[in-house]
Amino acid sequence: MQLNNNKEYLTIALPKGKLFSLSADLLAKVGYTAEGLTDKSRKLVITNEEKKLRFIITKTADVPTYVEYGAADLGVIGKDVLAENGMDVYELLDLGFGRCHVMMAVPKAERRPQLTDYAQTRVATKFPHIAEQFFSAHGMQMEYIKLNGSIELGPIVGLSESIVDIVETGTTLKENDLEEIAYIMDATARLVANRVSFKLKFERIHKLTEELRKVLALEKGAAQ
Ligand code: PRP
Repeated sequence: MQLNNNKEYLTIALPKGKLFSLSADLLAKVGYTAEGLTDKSRKLVITNEEKKLRFIITKTADVPTYVEYGAADLGVIGKDVLAENGMDVYELLDLGFGRCHVMMAVPKAERRPQLTDYAQTRVATKFPHIAEQFFSAHGMQMEYIKLNGSIELGPIVGLSESIVDIVETGTTLKENDLEEIAYIMDATARLVANRVSFKLKFERIHKLTEELRKVLALEKGAAQ
């Protein structure tokens, strides 16, 4: 199926997983929704003809790619994934949800006294670019082992001495006897736009961004 009339439609890329329902729920509050929009859907493009809206559902790490190349006008993605990919997209709005932080953790039982004691060791991570920036800033050369999930397994099975990964509740670290030893960066979900779409579809994108901003401000006010 080839998608036509791209100019007429606003296409939004949503990530599968933790951010999906939070993103879909927020967009629904400003009337941006479509019938059958769930991340369990086997249909990967879900259209709302009346509103000329298209949602595409992709792997989290691929959202910036679809947006950068203009296959999607907009996308929702964690700041961690954005920072890792270094994609050339506009960051329009901090959506506030999906709050987590990127950090370095090691097995509790083998904790070394100082960060620099880990120089020249192996780090398992989904974020080799963020990790490299962090360790370089500390003058440390490391060996990066790229994993795509279950990063915490790395030090347990002897694949690496440490991990660089995101922490949300801390449960995964705890259950695997790992301890955070260095904070790297905070992350929340962001609304991003393709640079050309932002100009060509400015009115629609600007209107949506402002409507979302209002909903977020109201929710923040109600929570305080
Ligand atoms: C993320 C991350 C940690 C976990 C942290 O993994 O990589 O493993 O969540 O969350 P917690 O602090 O609340 O325990 P995710 O669930 O996205 O799956 P993955 O391991 O397959 O990447």
